[in-house]
Amino acid sequence: MTSPTLTQATGPAHTRIYAYGAARGENFVTNDDLIEPINSSDEWIRQRTGIVTRTRAVPETSATDLAITAAREAVERSGIDPAKIDLVICATISNARQTPSMSAVVADAIGANPAPAYDTNAACAGFAYAVAQADALIRAGAGTYAVVIGAEKLSDVVDPTDRSISFLLGDGAGAVVIGPSDFPGISATVWGSDGSRADTVSMNHTLIEFRDGTAPWPTLRQEGPSVFRWAVWEMAKVAKRALEAAGIEAKDLAAFVPHQANMRIIDEFAKQLGLPESVVIGRDIETTGNTSAASVPLATHRLLEEHPELSGGLALQIGFGAGLVYGAQVVVLP
Ligand SMILES: CC(C)(COP(=O)(O)OP(=O)(O)OC[C@H]1O[C@@H](n2cnc3c(N)ncnc32)[C@H](O)[C@@H]1OP(=O)(O)O)[C@@H](O)C(=O)NCCC(=O)NCCS
Repeated sequence: MTSPTLTQATGPAHTRIYAYGAARGENFVTNDDLIEPINSSDEWIRQRTGIVTRTRAVPETSATDLAITAAREAVERSGIDPAKIDLVICATISNARQTPSMSAVVADAIGANPAPAYDTNAACAGFAYAVAQADALIRAGAGTYAVVIGAEKLSDVVDPTDRSISFLLGDGAGAVVIGPSDFPGISATVWGSDGSRADTVSMNHTLIEFRDGTAPWPTLRQEGPSVFRWAVWEMAKVAKRALEAAGIEAKDLAAFVPHQANMRIIDEFAKQLGLPESVVIGRDIETTGNTSAASVPLATHRLLEEHPELSGGLALQIGFGAGLVYGAQVVVLP
């Protein structure tokens, strides 16, 4: 049987990030606000994690609201007409409803209706995963301008009596616009997963158990020291592989933006990567806390605000977390 030849889409050779947007929870929650039920101290939390405050949203603000605010800023700054956005991907683990997707609601709110829109769940690696998808989809001709957002309201899934992770978590959203480029602006992504360690960072109960009254509201838990060791040893290797995949060396970087999980992990990465003093490191965790999928774009947004001279420089970003999953790539800062 002979059939007519199909037309397959092809896209531009390169993509880049055009602009960033950010939104943080309205309240700065201090360590002192949280220590009593976990028998901790401001000093312990500062020394062991580097966190001084974390931003948490008021009850009326949803993760989707944060995503919309961040996406609007990114689109405005990009100069791209929202009607031309033809792909919206939200990375999130904390959308209050399992369906509809956060992305479809965001696409409509920012004036990008009827753009294809879907959510992606790769926890703290979600932003790196979504950047990889947008880059690949645009270069394949499946879209031209993408909005990629990491958005979380983790305060909905914390247990104030939990010592393992809850006190680290914050609320926020970071967004970018990605589109065609004359030069390579997003390097090959090094990404992967290890589901054999799914239980090391996870919700402690299912929604079904909650519905059936056999468990309380599900909240996040982690095996802190084991995840810490994995992050420091395995993720530093992933970061090095991302540099190799990009064809650059640590000295070529202008910035390093790791997932904002723990300041000690960030310091250890910097050592293992042999980052020169000239590389500016994202340390947004100090005031924002760990916002999972939002943490990398929020940290980058802050770096660009505080160091506008980084514009045009190379940033290595790496996300890692529940799954376990990880993703890293080098991007040219807008
Ligand atoms: C959670 C984390 C901050 C805990 O820090 P840690 O240094 O590993 O702490 P440990 O669990 O080894 O505990 C050390 C001591 O502090 C105590 N401790 C643990 N959690 C505490 C808390 N929240 N407040 C006060 N003390 C605490 C322990 O009881 C232990 O006391 P001991 O020495 O008397 O036995 C750290 O393990 C971490 O950041 N892990 C990785 C996070 C990460 O990368 N996540 C990625 C996915 S988001």
